[in-house]
Amino acid sequence: MTYRLLVLPGDGIGPEIVDQALRVLECLRADFGLDMECEHGLIGGAACDQAGSPLPDETLSLARAADAVLLGAVGGARYDALERHLRPERGLLAIRSELDLFGNLRPAILYPQLAAASALKPDVVAGLDLMIIRELTGGIYFGEPRGIRELSGGERQGYNTLVYRESEIERIGRLGFETARKRNGRLCSVDKANVLEVSELWREVMQRLAADYPDVELSHMYVDNAAMQLVRAPKQFDVIVTGNMFGDILSDCAAMLTGSIGMLPSASLDASGKGLYEPVHGSAPDIAGKDVANPLATILSLAMLLRHSLGEPELAGRIEQAVGDVLDQGLRTEDIESEDTRRVGTKAMGDAVVAALRSEA
Ligand code: IPM
Ligand code: MG
Repeated sequence: MTYRLLVLPGDGIGPEIVDQALRVLECLRADFGLDMECEHGLIGGAACDQAGSPLPDETLSLARAADAVLLGAVGGARYDALERHLRPERGLLAIRSELDLFGNLRPAILYPQLAAASALKPDVVAGLDLMIIRELTGGIYFGEPRGIRELSGGERQGYNTLVYRESEIERIGRLGFETARKRNGRLCSVDKANVLEVSELWREVMQRLAADYPDVELSHMYVDNAAMQLVRAPKQFDVIVTGNMFGDILSDCAAMLTGSIGMLPSASLDASGKGLYEPVHGSAPDIAGKDVANPLATILSLAMLLRHSLGEPELAGRIEQAVGDVLDQGLRTEDIESEDTRRVGTKAMGDAVVAALRSEA
């Protein structure tokens, strides 16, 4: 069977990092028998420029027809002045919502070769391997009512609504339990149940679900404490499950524990395992087109795609192995370099990963 992949390079460094992932993909096709067709589509600022919308209908139908989507990044200062519904970020939020990609997996893994890049002491982060599962299509990001209104005295007020239904909590909760079951069996649900009713319900649903997963140890933590614990003793966590906005914030925090956000992939899955894969870092317009961006997060996103949406764990493992090999060789893009390493650009990093992969063929 031929897999169908939709590629959405997006803005900023998106196109150049996606190019490197596509070269890795090409190698999997040529040397490892992967049967895959790729199509390209527009999203974000690039889509606004060329098609007048951050998520054109055509992109959405291509995405619906594909087995998986690989995305670079969206956004750039150039688009910040646009009306809210035309901003690049809207395209990303809309594709997540339209495809019902409620389950966002954000691993934070410290590669032993990069221990020096973390801002934390080596013994605090050595061997770090945690997974944040963020609810991605609900909560305050999508809750209604929302807007900016004028109060009677003429002063304006901005408002958003944090809502979760039981069914939404349950499906992300189950993803959390199932992920923990395949890892070290510990799930920490993060909420703000000491203040918010929505969190009170969240906690209740998590407790109810726990009965179905007796092999998983469930704990609860308030989000403020979770932020503190992540930088104090991050290795206490195995899997964290949380709502949309808490997950947005905690996942950036967790990313920095590993020293470089340039290394971290992510997956956003629907109920059937179909998904959109993207690096956790953004479009970094300041370094776009300079051949300095780190393509490894995008290459590792391709590995997640093979594992989670295509059921090709062996090929996924080969990519991850190849990334480990280039780090062992001492090759580093600017964002992860240290004293005794060799600096390479985006393309040269892609070359090295392809060469490492090929040497395994
Ligand atoms: C992320 C990003 C997005 C989010 C932005 C770009 C809309 O920060 O994927 O974490 O807030 O979800
Ligand atoms: Mg974010």
